[in-house]
Amino acid sequence: MTRHLITSAIPYINGIKHLGNLVGSQLPADLYARYLRARGNEVLFLCATDEHGTPAELAAAKAAKPVAEYCAEMWAVQAELADGFRLSFDHYGRSSSTQNQKLTQHFAGQLAGNGLILEVVERQVYSNADGRFLPDRYVEGTCPNCGYDRARGDQCENCTKQLDPTDLIDPRSAISGSTDLEVRDTKHLHLRQSAMKDQLDAWISSKTDWPVLTTSIAKKWLHDGDGLQDRGITRDLDWGVPVKKGEEDWPGMEGKVFYVWFDAPIEYIACAQEWVDAGKGDDWERWWRTDKGAEDVTYTQFMGKDNVPFHTLSFPSTILGSGEPWKLVDYIKSFNYLNYDGGQFSTSQGRGVFMDQALEILPADYWRWWLLSHAPESSDSEFTWENFQQSVNKDLADVLGNFVSRITKFCRSKFDEAVPDGGNYGEAEQALIADMQEKLQAYQAHMDAIEVRKAAAALRALWVAGNEYLQSAAPWSTFKEDPDQAAAQVRMGLNLIRLYAVLSAPFIPDASARMLEAMQCDDTTWPADMGEALSVLEPGHAFSVPDVLFAKISDDQREDWQTRFAGTRK
Ligand code: MF3
Ligand code: ZN
Repeated sequence: MTRHLITSAIPYINGIKHLGNLVGSQLPADLYARYLRARGNEVLFLCATDEHGTPAELAAAKAAKPVAEYCAEMWAVQAELADGFRLSFDHYGRSSSTQNQKLTQHFAGQLAGNGLILEVVERQVYSNADGRFLPDRYVEGTCPNCGYDRARGDQCENCTKQLDPTDLIDPRSAISGSTDLEVRDTKHLHLRQSAMKDQLDAWISSKTDWPVLTTSIAKKWLHDGDGLQDRGITRDLDWGVPVKKGEEDWPGMEGKVFYVWFDAPIEYIACAQEWVDAGKGDDWERWWRTDKGAEDVTYTQFMGKDNVPFHTLSFPSTILGSGEPWKLVDYIKSFNYLNYDGGQFSTSQGRGVFMDQALEILPADYWRWWLLSHAPESSDSEFTWENFQQSVNKDLADVLGNFVSRITKFCRSKFDEAVPDGGNYGEAEQALIADMQEKLQAYQAHMDAIEVRKAAAALRALWVAGNEYLQSAAPWSTFKEDPDQAAAQVRMGLNLIRLYAVLSAPFIPDASARMLEAMQCDDTTWPADMGEALSVLEPGHAFSVPDVLFAKISDDQREDWQTRFAGTRK
């Protein structure tokens, strides 16, 4: 048994996330957490809302609410949607927690003590029209790296380059659109990332098993252009973690807060404290402190590609620079983007399907299956309603759902609502067992490697093998000449249902639970020996015929949804 710490990039508090956000971090993280738990590992799976910074301020202003109140409300909304999608977080925290505030100030104190923080008089964009300094995100303009004309002052969404607002060409205020901007002096803290370049470089170079997407982005920012630059970690804002050096005030930094990207990843640690403080665990340090047991922990992070620089360079700088024995990430799984029907999903433009809307039209499993089996791993991928309809109808309704309904109904009509006997499994069954054993190895290998699409394909192959077996065994024909043989075939079929419930649970937990319930079985042991796994349900064991597991999506429904989600959300 290994201990696995798993975190998903923490979603911004500003509004409900779309399916592209979901598949880029939280959903695959949940898949992996469920799989590792099912295989008997001890798992701590954490996520939280990312509540500071300008996105929160802007959204609260738009909702005409005090920002703290807005965040509390949106946290509850996001937590409920996470539940709706069956995201099995051990705790869903908040980056605005007092735990995170203290820990963020602690890290800043450590970094300062280690000489890694510079106090710099910065020249910052001031908007005369708005009468205030403009934080990064309030400045828009053209990216100096790729020429994208709607780049924001913190990062170019097109080429992922981290930016400073003063890097932008033709800058304008995102609040008023005014170009009457000037640059004024203001004091800020900089983290000397450049001093940690060699350490970071050696660390990243040692991660030879990381996805290329992760290491290529990290190496690009380490070596390209000016290389790793020092980063401003404070902002002229009201909302955020007040700048302090541990518990002490920081002269000259009154009224300023830490930059959201400084405190957000620290929430991964604070969230474990929140988990303990909520009474759900009793020791967070054994997950996070290598001097308190965390050296045995395997830590995996999930995120979209735009998050990679912050997790490979910025956050590790904080951890390493503290000089304290905090756990560093062992594996970073990153994702490309999911597009929506010929364009991009967009929160600001309300384009695509959002988590609340998705659950209004179909249960979570339908979405989980499609999203995971089309995860944007090796390249960007695209959601289309046709493709969604096709996958659901074929994979879920025809292959898995139909198998379950066919075998249970046949058994009820010819035998009883109990597993029939029929004696030992024959040759065809032994061949199926051997084939399934191999396919199980493949499935596990892909899950272990967090190859999400390949894992989905391997799981589907297990479903298909059962279907093919049933098709060729054809108990409905066998029954006429040899009812005993038909009984053994049906027994195999019912055992396959239980096995599928166990193996499919990481992808489609609700359907799995219903399959187990129908089989009146709570044995969810992950299979080791396939022959044994397919003999768990013994002759005489009662079951019931479940309701339709997956309803097909009709052309009318598809067209309806296509129209309904064609525009942008109000
Ligand atoms: N809120 C950020 C986003 O959605 C992710 C923050 S991840 C953390 O892109 F590491 F900062 F926590
Ligand atoms: Zn760019």
